This record gives sequence, C-alpha cells and structure tokens, in this order.
Amino acid sequence: MEFSTQTSTDLAQINTEALAVGVFKNQVLSPAAEQIDQASGGAIRSVLESEFKADAKSSLVLRHLNGVAAKRVVIIGLGEKDKYNAKAHAAAEATFAHYAKGASITEVVSTLASIDTADSSIADRSRAAAQALGYANYKYDATLSQKEKATAIQRAAIWSAPTLAAEVETGFKQGKAIADGVNFTRLLADLPPNVCTPTYLAQEAKKLDEQFDSLKVEVLERKQIEALKMGSFLSVAKGSDEPPVFIVIKHTPSTASDEAPLVLVGKGLTFDAGGISLKPAANMDEMKYDMGGAASVFGAMRAVAELGLNREIIGIVAACENLPSGRANKPGDVVTSMAGKTIEILNTDAEGRLVLCDALTYAERFKPAAVINIATLTGACIVALGDINSGLFSNNDDLAEQIKEASQQTNDGVWQLPITDEYQAKLKSNFADIANIGTPGAGSITAACFLARFTESYPWAHLDVAGTAWSSGANKGATGRPVPLLVQYLINQTA
Ligand code: BES
Ligand code: MN
Ligand code: ZN
Repeated sequence: MEFSTQTSTDLAQINTEALAVGVFKNQVLSPAAEQIDQASGGAIRSVLESEFKADAKSSLVLRHLNGVAAKRVVIIGLGEKDKYNAKAHAAAEATFAHYAKGASITEVVSTLASIDTADSSIADRSRAAAQALGYANYKYDATLSQKEKATAIQRAAIWSAPTLAAEVETGFKQGKAIADGVNFTRLLADLPPNVCTPTYLAQEAKKLDEQFDSLKVEVLERKQIEALKMGSFLSVAKGSDEPPVFIVIKHTPSTASDEAPLVLVGKGLTFDAGGISLKPAANMDEMKYDMGGAASVFGAMRAVAELGLNREIIGIVAACENLPSGRANKPGDVVTSMAGKTIEILNTDAEGRLVLCDALTYAERFKPAAVINIATLTGACIVALGDINSGLFSNNDDLAEQIKEASQQTNDGVWQLPITDEYQAKLKSNFADIANIGTPGAGSITAACFLARFTESYPWAHLDVAGTAWSSGANKGATGRPVPLLVQYLINQTA
C-alpha cells in the first residue's frame, strides 16, 4: 500500500473513493465532519441521533453528497469526546479500514488523525492510521485451494493541516513499516507446521537477505550448533526428524551509529507437542504458533530494514520442533547449556527456555546495549494477563521503562511482573545447577527467572507473548504482536 499526505484545506473538493470523517456522541462534529456537513447542506447532522449515534467503532456511509467531491463519506463514530484518546483513534481508523477493505475500495482518504488527543502526537496518530490500514489488507490464503480475488486497499492519504505534513509523513512511514512487519509475522505464524518448519524459516531469512541491502543472514545448521556447545537447545531438537536451525539476521546500515547493537531473540518452536511430557490433544494445532516470538523477530527486522534505522540491530532465532520420540528428552535428563550450566529437565514441555537460554548466551558475543527476547513461553501468562497484555520481565529498569513507552505509543500492551530472588529459589534442582520448571505457582515468573540466569551480562527484557501473539476461537489467527512495540522501541532508541 502507498501512503501520502493530503493537505487540501477544502475537504469538499477532495476527489476520493472514500473519505473518513469523525463524529463524537451528542452531535459533536470533528472539524473535518463540520466542513463536510456545511458543504453538503447539513447531510451529516441530518443523520445524527436518528440513524447514527456515533458510538465508538460504528460507521455510516453517505454516498454522492451534493457539494462534496468524494464518492462516499464514511462517518466514523468516536464515542464520547472527553474519553477520546490514542486507543480510541486507533480503533476508529481500524473501523474505517475494515469498511474499506470489506467494500473492496482501493483508494481512501482519512481525516481521523487530524483530531487531537491528549496522549498522542500527530505523528503517533498518522502512524496508527497507516498501521490500521495496513493490517486490514492481511488475509491468510496460502494453503487455500481457492484464493479470494483480493482487492487490497492500494492507496491511502492522511489528511492534515499543511504545516503538519512532515510529521504526518514520518508517522505513516513508520506505520507502513510496522504493518508490513506485522503482516509478515502473521503469515509466518499462520502457516501450518508441515510448511513452516525450521528449514522454511531459514529460507525466509535468506529471502530477507536478498530483499534488503542492510540485512545479512547467517544460518547455522546442526553441526555448527554442536560446535557452539548449545547442548540445551540441541536436546529439544533431537526429538524431531526436522533439523534445527539457528538464524542470525544482522541489520547494518551503511551509516550505522557506533553505539552497541540492540538484539532481539525469538523462540522458534515451529511445533510444540510437549515432547515426552505430551500435551493434551485439544487445541494442540495451536502449538504451530509456538514460533510466534521468532516470527515477530522476522517482522521487526523487516521493518527495521524498510525504515533504514541508523543503528546496528541483530535478530536471533533458534528454531526446532518439540516432539516425543525415541531420541527425545526424558524427564530427569540433565543437559549442559552453552553457558556451561547444567539443567535438569523435569518437564520436557518447558522447552522454550531450554532453546532460548543458549540463544541468549550466544547474544553475549555482540556486547549488546540491550537484548529483548520474545517467546510464547507459558500458558500461565495467559492465565495472568489473557490476550490483552504481553508479560514483561526485565533485569534493568531503564529498559523496562523504554519498552513500556513504546508499548503505549503503539497500543501494544505489556504488563511487568517481578523476577526477584524468592522466585529464583523455586528453580532449585537436586541433580543439576538449575531445574527447567519451578515448584508450583507463578509459572510465568519462574520461566522468566530461568532465562534471567543466562542474561546477567547485559540489560535484558523478556516478553511472554503466549496470550497476545495469536487469537483463539472462531477467528483463530496470528496477531503480529509484539512487532509494533518492538519496532517503536527500536525507532526510539535510534533517534
Ligand atoms: N509453548 C508453551 C506455552 C504455551 C501454552 C503457549 C499455551 C501458548 C499457549 C510452552 O512450551 C509450554 O508448554 N509451557 C508449559 C510450561 C510448564 C510445563 C512448566 C506450560 O505453560 O504449561
Ligand atoms: Mn512446551
Ligand atoms: Zn513451547
């Protein structure tokens, strides 16, 4: 999709397939809606309260208004004016985007970003508009025999005062990169596990290398992973016939600043059956999403390259399957991690941490300014935070604050949970340096505590996206989270 600025002061003259204008409850019109209402002899006010109550997420289409060049004016309900904020704006843009996509409209103009909120800048709102429009274009059809004739939204203009055009442009470029990253992440995660294997992920990484000048990709195969002594990662991989891969995606712009790199690490279980500690059959298909963290690293790296961020950023993905077999890990096995720490595997289904700990040790070689790992790590995180917030854990308060700020800017929620010594004590093993599960309770926290043992040498944060990376139920599918917050964090750290 292509974005542009639209700064014509006479809205009624704008020639477009669909023009979005916002209306609050109690007949409070946005300036853009007011302009269209006046140009059309009161067409908007005439439908308020009777047909259109301006509830949030509602819309009403008016066609061929006298005195208005746009083919359709799409009135978007904004809810109550004093409750209107950045989140409500994002929802309003999404309402418009869904309408446009559903009606097969290929070209649109939105005025919604021009409505101020106390908690966002014009660039923030322009970014949110581009995100919403970009997301609407995602439709999974990779493994359907009949592909819908896709009519994507191809061109979108964001309307603002001429003096704000530069900020609008900054915003929509970021929003477009985020949306492209999110849609890439969603596709990788939605693909079935017999297609999206570790080897497939490696091929996708190599495609990124070909597509973007700034990206260089290295794929380590089993022999090289063995040479690195990643005994913990390999112990999970050995239960499957699919070979594991360890993928390193480096973004090095020609004018990179000399700051230490930022590193993202993704859990890449392309399927998690639990291993010998086998999962129940119900909904086990959803464990194809257990590479959601890895997919978000792919999406974020794609966005970083598209934006040409002026800093070295490195994405790491450790990918394998967790299956039961004659070669699989057994409860009671003790393995040795790359860091040299021994691990007693008490539950083979707590495999994410076994894979990640070696990837996090590998990250030390980059002398990173910060490392963020992203993982569908624990069912307990869904119990605690549901599909609203990703779990945030960190050994560094500044880093945690930076992530929370990026989260707020992009409506991609996180909630921080503690990783204090009392919880660390729950990982005691009688037969190894550490056990791979904690004594009962606080499952997300003990999982994070396990990772924290391997990240003492750099500022580190862990995002548990088990509840946020995909939606269950009738609309089952990947969400692309937390790509928005990751990309925003990286943008903010590059300014
Ligand atoms: N991939 C799962 C976590 C998960 C579960 C994500 C459900 C999304 C939905 C992870 O590998 C796992 O199995 N964790 C176990 C840990 C337990 C054995 C300590 C869990 O959460 O049950
Ligand atoms: Mn598991
Ligand atoms: Zn898992």
